Amino acid sequence: MTTTTSTGYLASRAPGARPLLGHVPALFRDPLPFLRSLAEQGDLVEIRLGPQRAMMVCSPGLFQQVLTDTRHFDKGGPLFDKLRWFLGDGLGSTPHDVHRRQRRQLQPAFRPDALARYLEVMAQETRAASSGWQDGAVIEVEQHAYQLIARIITRTMFSVDGSSAAVAGIAEAYPEFHQGIGRHMRSPSRLLDRLPTPANRRFRQACSTVSREVDAAIEARRRGGAGTGHDLLALMVREGLSDREMRDQVITMLTGGIGTSASALGWALFFLSRDPALAEAVAREARAVLPAGAEPGRDVLDRLDLARRVVMETLRYYPSAWFYSRTVTAPVELAGRRLRPGTAILLSPYLIHHRPDLYPEPELFDADRWLPARRAAMSHGSYIPFGAGARKCIGDVYALTEITLAVAVITARWRLEPLPGPVPRHLLEPRPWTVIHPAPLHLRLHRR
Ligand code: HEM
Repeated sequence: MTTTTSTGYLASRAPGARPLLGHVPALFRDPLPFLRSLAEQGDLVEIRLGPQRAMMVCSPGLFQQVLTDTRHFDKGGPLFDKLRWFLGDGLGSTPHDVHRRQRRQLQPAFRPDALARYLEVMAQETRAASSGWQDGAVIEVEQHAYQLIARIITRTMFSVDGSSAAVAGIAEAYPEFHQGIGRHMRSPSRLLDRLPTPANRRFRQACSTVSREVDAAIEARRRGGAGTGHDLLALMVREGLSDREMRDQVITMLTGGIGTSASALGWALFFLSRDPALAEAVAREARAVLPAGAEPGRDVLDRLDLARRVVMETLRYYPSAWFYSRTVTAPVELAGRRLRPGTAILLSPYLIHHRPDLYPEPELFDADRWLPARRAAMSHGSYIPFGAGARKCIGDVYALTEITLAVAVITARWRLEPLPGPVPRHLLEPRPWTVIHPAPLHLRLHRR
């Protein structure tokens, strides 16, 4: 059933709901094609997740409304409740009233002066990460991306040097930690999560490593005093956060910042491997902006214009945070439909980014979409890899900077070549959960 409402928006019900399960099989089996198909049904599309009804937002205008109207929509919904179990009361999970205070406390760790201090670590770690690579070797790209991004975030948020046990411990444990969270979010019962399977055991081990390193970093910082540092730990000590609050915030930053950025870096390198001419142009630009050993300046993101456009297009094509939710907190009208408190609202930047009326040829990877003239013609709110409103990603510029730098530094030194044969299916139609993973993504290295 489709209704055009007085708001001009089209509200509808998605076809194909299965008895009892509703649209769960479609969402689990082939989530990305399913999402693309919903955009054809209307601007606000009702789907069924088992017995529960949920509203999928398919238009940029409604997306902005949900994310900016904090009186009627708040964190919640089917995906959120499971994630919260891992994240506690960190910035990404708290309701709006608590969130405002937390955001004010943590924002200074992401201001331009703080970001400028992180640049050196980002460049140093990226150079070190690729310096041990061997000409002709085949690497699994996302594993390397995870290690690199985990090291950068641990060093910058904790202000520790590269040899610190926290950096090695978190970088080592993080891929398993992240995959485990994804598995637990998909799992239909907490009972299954407790079975002593090898995967659950590896996940528990990874959780205890991450917890141990985070607790040790907090304790060391309390012993040493916050001083005048501007990193995350220093800020939190000065703001008087308890150990528990600090722990939730650090785990939130690691969880929000590592998988998302690592997957984007992996995909950017994948797209460059499929387009040698584009990769060559990125390499030329990188060598001109960052000649051997040069430190990046504050303007590095502007100067690495092509590398940044590649990253922006990667985040359009496969936005790492591809699917999240909200809950209605007070009666509200959305696209002309009255929604009751407790209604689940589903949001997918992937769906918006693949609407052909917003992005012509959406399945084409085209970094030139982000040239100023074409960008200016885009509709407002149609590019949302980092969300919008008060809950917009606190690490948006941080992430854009670290991924762009990594793409530039790696591409300046290495040509990454796909292995012969057809592109594996998991790369053409990936099955995302917490983020859209490229793994396993094997590429051959050639020194430039
Ligand atoms: C490509 C990389 C990244 C992407 C695509 C991404 C995407 C997002 C999105 C879409 C949200 C909003 C979710 C919602 O409204 O429910 C968000 C929130 C958040 N992100 Fe990111 N993120 C990235 C990197 C980072 C990094 C590097 C950090 C930290 C260093 C980070 C920390 C957070 C935090 C703490 C929140 C919660 C913000 C709040 O509620 O105030 N993210 N991210």
